[in-house]
Amino acid sequence: MALTPLIDPFGRRIEYLRLSVTDRCDLRCSYCLPKGFKGFTEPKHWLNFAEIERIVAAFAGFGVQRVRLTGGEPLTRRGIVELASRLAAIPGISDLSLSTNGTQLEALAQSLARAGVRRVNVSLDSLDPMIFRQLTGGELERVLRGIEAAQAAGLEPIRINTVVMVGINDTEVEPLLDYCAARGLTLRLIEPMPMGQTGQAALRASGTLEGVRRRLEQRFNLIPDLLPGGGPARYYRLASTQTRIGFITPLSQHFCATCNRVRLSAEGRLYLCLGHEHSYPLGEIIRTGISDEMLKEHLLQAIASKPERHQFNTQPQQIVRFMALTGG
Ligand code: 5AD
Ligand code: SF4
Repeated sequence: MALTPLIDPFGRRIEYLRLSVTDRCDLRCSYCLPKGFKGFTEPKHWLNFAEIERIVAAFAGFGVQRVRLTGGEPLTRRGIVELASRLAAIPGISDLSLSTNGTQLEALAQSLARAGVRRVNVSLDSLDPMIFRQLTGGELERVLRGIEAAQAAGLEPIRINTVVMVGINDTEVEPLLDYCAARGLTLRLIEPMPMGQTGQAALRASGTLEGVRRRLEQRFNLIPDLLPGGGPARYYRLASTQTRIGFITPLSQHFCATCNRVRLSAEGRLYLCLGHEHSYPLGEIIRTGISDEMLKEHLLQAIASKPERHQFNTQPQQIVRFMALTGG
């Protein structure tokens, strides 16, 4: 029997779940978390692995095949390798991936690959150790070793995500492109999104990526390209090379019409849109001891409340939560 798909009120099929397993992080990217931030959620309120497994299985029952582990920094969650192998084993889940800042990849890439993680996205905003430290508080070399370890473990294709802030790291784009081209990685440039005060300040300081895009268009012959997956990035291939570059530009070119995803926070709140504070308290609901049938009903109800689009342009002050609560 064909599985019933999850279709939202705007006719979009939800086929991708982003799973935040912690809102904590070992870095402090300026556009994401404030320095000295203390307002994290309590680990005792987080979904445990059995609860996560149950929710993911319910999504899989609707034909959702793709799950991405994210955070905060997902690799700081204790037992993440075990969780990965439990999720990879759920019937119907065929694409388990990971978004990470890369600091723990050197240690964990092999075991994650063995556990069934297929591919990783790594955040990398600069190849200059000083700029990297200034932006993230972390050590560049460690992340670069992490990327190498991910390649060696076969966690490919690897995408490098760069949040570009004009005036701070926009000059890093060309070096990052060279770095990616030399290693067969795909670079994706991300516009700062007004998530929380940090994201709002970053967007105000930087503006959109229109200028960076125009600069790259002048410098390279960019041929529109498609990568499978239906995500928000628009891809180009650099003429006469195999190098791809993607733009994730929710402000200058919004892509809500093809949105295919929802996000579950570590506490089990299902966020239907990055650009809305509304969430559906799935974690609380399953803790009341509901049946699997009821859980499916709740998923349908939640999806029915998915907003049509974000309001980053018209109401940039609207989102008070930081990106670390749900990942990108
Ligand atoms: N705008 C855009 N991207 C962000 N990220 C974190 N905060 C923001 C923001 N305000 C990105 C990170 C990483 C992923 C978790 O989301 O760089 O790639
Ligand atoms: Fe951590 Fe990612 Fe936020 Fe940076 S952007 S502080 S790496 S969660």
